[in-house]
Amino acid sequence: MPEYLTPPVSPFAIAFDAERLTLSPEGPTLTRRMSDLEGLFLDQSAWAESAAGDNPVVYTVTSSPVPEINRELPQSITTIFPGATAGELWMTKGHQHPDHQGEIYLALKGRGGLLMFDGERVEWLDMTPGTIGYIPPGWAHRSVNTGDEPYAFLAVYPGGAGHDYGWVLTHGMGSRAYLDASGSVDLRPYAG
Ligand SMILES: [Fe+2]
Repeated sequence: MPEYLTPPVSPFAIAFDAERLTLSPEGPTLTRRMSDLEGLFLDQSAWAESAAGDNPVVYTVTSSPVPEINRELPQSITTIFPGATAGELWMTKGHQHPDHQGEIYLALKGRGGLLMFDGERVEWLDMTPGTIGYIPPGWAHRSVNTGDEPYAFLAVYPGGAGHDYGWVLTHGMGSRAYLDASGSVDLRPYAG
């Protein structure tokens, strides 16, 4: 038996329901409202008006009980609600892993995109149910709902990678996602 600084959890099964978007047993759930996304939308006054108004839930993250510690491999289901703030599509905050490690996203429901930025290069992956988006080490990542129903995906990530949300406030994400008149994704320069 190998020895660990923190003993790993014991093996266990997780019931995964891709229709109801549940993991059972369930760990912590995060709810991100508009007020939690300060400094992320281009139109700050539209953001402030929405946050001070009905302050809608933009996305939720439901996790399994696997802890976010080194060597473990936690999972979570993120559901982003459809919407736009001054045209900019609703999205997750986006983050960089302080410990540069890879991650996978498996699209479950709805229509979305995976925006990645390494500080210089931007990549966009269209995400529809069945697509695995691969996030290599060193790429900040943000998910966007590009459809008119909730967009949900399963994430599987190294528990020790961490979440640096401040990186996006400092460096941006390279692009911002809108829809054009025909309903296609329109990626624009980050601009502030
Ligand atoms: Fe991540």
